[in-house]
Amino acid sequence: MVVGRIWRISGPLVIAEGMSGSMVYEVVEVGEEALIGEIIGLEGDKAIIQVYEDTSGLTVGEKVVGTGHPLVAELGPGLVGAIYDGLQRPLRRIEDLVGPFITRGVRAPALPRDRKWHFKPLIKVGDVVGEGDIIGVVPETSLIEHKIMVPPGVKGEVKWIASEGDYTVTEPIVTLRTGSGDVDLTMMQKWPVRRPRPYAKKLDPEELLVTGQRVLDYMFPLAKGGKAAIPGGFGTGKTVTLQQLAKWSDTQLNIYVGCGERGNEMADALHSFIRLTDPRTGKPLMEKAVFIANTSNMPVAARETSVFIGVTIGEYFRDMGYNVLMVADSTSRWAEAMREISGRLEEMPGEEGFPAYLGSRLAEFYERAGRVIALGKPERKGSLSIAGAVSPPGADFSEPVTQNTLRYIRVFWALDVALANRRHFPAINWLISYSLYIDIVEKWWRENIAADWKEARTEAMSILQKEAELAEIVRLVGTEALPEEDKLVLEVARMIREDFLQQNAFHEIDTYCPPKKAHLMMKTILRFYHRGLEALKRGVSVDEIKNLKVRARIARMKEIPNKDYEPVFKKLWDEIDKEFEKLLSR
Ligand SMILES: Nc1ncnc2c1ncn2[C@@H]1O[C@H](COP(=O)(O)OP(=O)(O)O)[C@@H](O)[C@H]1O
Ligand SMILES: [Mg+2]
Repeated sequence: MVVGRIWRISGPLVIAEGMSGSMVYEVVEVGEEALIGEIIGLEGDKAIIQVYEDTSGLTVGEKVVGTGHPLVAELGPGLVGAIYDGLQRPLRRIEDLVGPFITRGVRAPALPRDRKWHFKPLIKVGDVVGEGDIIGVVPETSLIEHKIMVPPGVKGEVKWIASEGDYTVTEPIVTLRTGSGDVDLTMMQKWPVRRPRPYAKKLDPEELLVTGQRVLDYMFPLAKGGKAAIPGGFGTGKTVTLQQLAKWSDTQLNIYVGCGERGNEMADALHSFIRLTDPRTGKPLMEKAVFIANTSNMPVAARETSVFIGVTIGEYFRDMGYNVLMVADSTSRWAEAMREISGRLEEMPGEEGFPAYLGSRLAEFYERAGRVIALGKPERKGSLSIAGAVSPPGADFSEPVTQNTLRYIRVFWALDVALANRRHFPAINWLISYSLYIDIVEKWWRENIAADWKEARTEAMSILQKEAELAEIVRLVGTEALPEEDKLVLEVARMIREDFLQQNAFHEIDTYCPPKKAHLMMKTILRFYHRGLEALKRGVSVDEIKNLKVRARIARMKEIPNKDYEPVFKKLWDEIDKEFEKLLSR
């Protein structure tokens, strides 16, 4: 075991001497209090260590002890519903987020050691099992059945298996006869957080990740196993949107990583979460969520570990065959931590002081999203979707974190300060946002909701596009000079914006919109548009169309309850047709 001495201290960075024999990314215990750190560079016998706990009070000469292993996450029953800090230490209470924090050097295991879980074996003595095979299940919460899997790299013949009953995560539940002797397995695995977990095969995403947010699902869809970024200036709605995702997505597990944001914000998020129930099952949402919080007043270096611990937990549940979503708020705070550490190291800075490896580090994170066939039997498909917030200073998307993120994500939800100021929420700018999953999820929409989703979406987007093109003319000469058809476009664009795109996260009904309802809403607006175009051809004016009574009912579509809404829309369509007929028959 390598034991060195502190040679220099600079904020979260410690340089230790006498460290030959260490490895990069090895975890070390720094100082008398054994603070957790990770070696991020080696030069001669000196190790550069980023320390994940407050380093004030450390002194030169204190010992630094190598552990011989990289930073690992504990994986097993006990994860779901947990609230962790950036080192996967459980927080006892939400109030811990606003401080004071866990005292330094405290080691609390991530998975409770005393709690017993009801294990039901699914294999028997004599079976040969390999990596990823499911050996048993634990009903972890009412929403998640935890599959106990053979860890990657292990295989053998079952020599003994525990009978159904209650066990802790450290008690053996199976003994395997392997090529290198007998191996006991427990319900807990440890996995190095910086290394992607292996899978049998990578698959292309094909299903929509239903979020219940119209502008996302309908206009800029994320696929299960896909990756999205949501950049936006202060107060534009990053946190609210990510919370909406974590609340409503049709996933089996959600991981919420709060990274460098304010403690009270994170505490609020948690409090509201705890009260919420899953719309599909009526069960508490905490029974399908894991929280990792490294708030702004916690040590900056642990922002990175919070992200990698989150993604590792995500892959682990993906491997069970679940659809998992991880959201990270905000990746910019992590990038700022990289910049601070790099600055202290006096590395050659890249753009705006960020280290040259900013892009590759972001890639290591986003590239762990995906849809896979997991290792092992029985065969199962799982996915990990990632959505990361980006907080560009001054809402300027040309800055390095946004630009580097763009290279790795496939959905861009661009939040817009002007829209937020007008209280158009979600403030997602429809002209610069994009999704590269449109063609992929088209099939899903066709098979599950409606054959004409893509067509309707395309038409709506072109109306919005046209509105933007007309904006300049309107600014110069006003709407009056426009041809009637263009006036109608402006009117319908407004309906799309106000009656469809705007969605209040805090409205009892509208907080969640089923995809089918979103489609019917859009079809309603487009029906109005098409009837309007016909009417214009027959000499009706846009003013008359604008004054139709049914407009007010269209504006209230959002409030139609999320159940049994189809007949309501049918009636609305009849009404549209009737009012237009009346206009024409005059
Ligand atoms: N979908 C939404 N529905 C209603 N209000 C929203 C929505 N998104 C954002 N807001 C409003 O904007 C405010 C700021 O949003 P927030 O997510 O905290 O911004 P950010 O995290 O980007 O700084 C919220 O407190 C809320 O009032
Ligand atoms: Mg925020």
